Amino acid sequence: VQDSMNITIVGSGYVGTTLAACLADFGHEVVAIDIDEDPVRAINAGEAPIHEPGLDELVAEHAGENLTATKDYAAVADAEVTFLALPTPARDDGSLDIAAIESGSESVGEALARAEQAGAVPDGEIARHLVVIKSTVTPAVPEEVVVPAIERGLGRALKPELSTSDQEGNGADDSDTPGQFEVGMATNPEFLREGTAVSDLLNPDKMVFGYDAEWAGDRLEGVFEPLLTDEVPIVRTDPATAMMIKYANNAFLASKISLINELGNVCKEYGIDAYEVADAIGLDDRIGEQFLRSGVGWGGSCFNKDVDALRAAARDRGYEPALLDAAVAVNDTQPARLLALLDEHVDVDGKRVAVLGLAFKPGTDDTRNSRAVPVIEGLTERGADVVAYDPVAVDDIRDRYPHLRFEAAESARVALSGAHAAVVVTDWDEFAALDSEFDSMAEPVVVDGRRVIERRDGITYEGLTW
Ligand code: UDX
Repeated sequence: VQDSMNITIVGSGYVGTTLAACLADFGHEVVAIDIDEDPVRAINAGEAPIHEPGLDELVAEHAGENLTATKDYAAVADAEVTFLALPTPARDDGSLDIAAIESGSESVGEALARAEQAGAVPDGEIARHLVVIKSTVTPAVPEEVVVPAIERGLGRALKPELSTSDQEGNGADDSDTPGQFEVGMATNPEFLREGTAVSDLLNPDKMVFGYDAEWAGDRLEGVFEPLLTDEVPIVRTDPATAMMIKYANNAFLASKISLINELGNVCKEYGIDAYEVADAIGLDDRIGEQFLRSGVGWGGSCFNKDVDALRAAARDRGYEPALLDAAVAVNDTQPARLLALLDEHVDVDGKRVAVLGLAFKPGTDDTRNSRAVPVIEGLTERGADVVAYDPVAVDDIRDRYPHLRFEAAESARVALSGAHAAVVVTDWDEFAALDSEFDSMAEPVVVDGRRVIERRDGITYEGLTW
């Protein structure tokens, strides 16, 4: 960067750590703040607290130099910008639990107020501090929750009332009044995918900046200067619209998958290959070729949570989001359709059934909302003995979903050996290479939820939508 800034990032989860490491790599002075000791210790030891390709290297390179971590919010007072990258989990009704965002915002306000009292801002001056909401929050949260929480911490409005000066540092006329912070609020949603978070952050399709005051927009541009090339469109808008863009983005992608899944279900009824249809419709630029892989449905941490939060936010204002409800319903039904196809070929009661893949997508050990969960539940209900194989995700699914009953196999070969059927849940590349492994099955029935295995002689093969 041309002008290095002091930046604090509150929350050292997957978004916060990726952001912290990349901003340090741009040349900013970055302090990561977390209330939990573990990520703080990891970052200061030069290790990424989460696994993402390329992240360990970036943290190792900058830790102790221009990237440090602390549990103490006092660091925000030295920064020009604070990003809030705190978790926003879903409540039982799908709406967001914004407790962490709220308390983090209040802590930022308190830290700024304490620093003011300690004389951090020279007399007569106004120091501008920008709080940027990076976490995904529904559109009303920035104004209705974050701003009031910062103000509670500050003990006053974001903009100091006594200030007569318009410009930072231009306080010559009131040099006897104590210096104060003027706090701005902005939103800057992220569109990172798991497993490619660093490269997604460094190669964005777009940057979305939501702000009210011009100086806030300028400051966001300063933070992300290395990314703002001619190829990257910058969307400048207000804080609520920026967050709506994030929800609309994910709602659209999730619905696109559900739509192709529904079309795929109809294709299957007519013996038509949905992938041939998808390839053809993808040639229409208005549709686009990506996210047309029909199958057992979406999983992961974002789509479920964001679609549910948007549905809840819509209902909150009296609107019934019929299409989003349907997108979720289709996603919930795909695993049952997979199992219904299996039922057509084998009665699995008392039989060994192999489940190939537990991660919600290849390249990750994350099993949140993985379609493997309803698939294993359905097999267990049918009385099957489930043997599951995944190259990396066994521990994660055992931790998250301890009720699931299955035996973990050390390889696809071991899982398939003696099985009366196999179901494919995750499109790991290694499954495409399976071949002689099918010979050891007791009954070679394969039901593929992701189109990774080729139809071949010697096995009874069913594709979910092809
Ligand atoms: C997603 C968004 O892509 C990202 O922009 C946002 O910031 C977070 O949520 P992620 O959850 O990491 O990212 O996964 P993604 O690669 O988008 O896949 C989501 C799910 O959709 C996976 O379960 C995947 O298997 C499924 N999927 C994807 C399909 O079933 N068919 C497709 O054609 C594409």
